[in-house]
Amino acid sequence: MFEASPLSEYPKPLQYLTMATVFFEPSTRTRLSFETAIQNLGGQLLTVENASISSSDKKGESLEDTIKTLNAYADGIILRHPEIGSVDRAAAISKVPIISGGDGGGEHPTQALLELYTIQKIKSKVDGLKVGIVGDLKHSRSHHSLIKLLSIYDVELYLIAPKVIALPEEQLAELKKLGVKYRVLDGWDDVIGELDVLYCNRIQKERFKFIEDYQAVKDKYILNIQTARKMKKDAIILDPLPRINEIDPRVDTDPRAKYFDAVKNGLYVRMAVLDYIFAS
Ligand code: CP
Repeated sequence: MFEASPLSEYPKPLQYLTMATVFFEPSTRTRLSFETAIQNLGGQLLTVENASISSSDKKGESLEDTIKTLNAYADGIILRHPEIGSVDRAAAISKVPIISGGDGGGEHPTQALLELYTIQKIKSKVDGLKVGIVGDLKHSRSHHSLIKLLSIYDVELYLIAPKVIALPEEQLAELKKLGVKYRVLDGWDDVIGELDVLYCNRIQKERFKFIEDYQAVKDKYILNIQTARKMKKDAIILDPLPRINEIDPRVDTDPRAKYFDAVKNGLYVRMAVLDYIFAS
């Protein structure tokens, strides 16, 4: 006997609207959660996967012309593109809302929202938390957006990365300007036991100019069971995923590992984003 999903009981603010998901870079979570969210909210879906080879981008069409064309078919566009600033470029000329699915090594705002939602849901607060952000702070758009979002709160940030992939100077300057409490560290040994949240991410191989630089840092921070044992009993471990080697899969069964819970939260957060923009 078929049982209706509780999701069928959600309001349908996207009924009669068409959303396009246009991804020029690979994605599992962002594209599929947006597409699920669109369908849960009653919208019609146009999807362009592998847009760099399956759309007219391959023939040399500009991003701007692609977006102008999609304006004829869609009421909103979710865009992922490898160039920093590409989402802003698209938004500047689009007549329909553009939602970022990530712009290269720039920003990934809905990822930050879902991490924030996960933290708030588990800890019942954000203010006062000590948050370690570890790994590829130079290239990780998820790291950039979470740091920016957490800057609104009264948190202490521990920015853990070797120099070659440290947070860019202009982003550090912004934190300074905002009066955010932060420390820049090369390793996590001194602080791992104090953190309320540890935010990991893979080293972003595809963004390195020189493969030797990637090779030198790719195994620098691996959260294994031994290191996790040093963490607070009520700490939480997050990672935007995909995971490469930065978290040993044996950590997944640790109750503090919340990265797959966050994946589900991502669906709800993206439903909320779409509802906020399109519900009349
Ligand atoms: N977190 C994230 O952006 O995952 P995908 O690249 O699979 O969308």
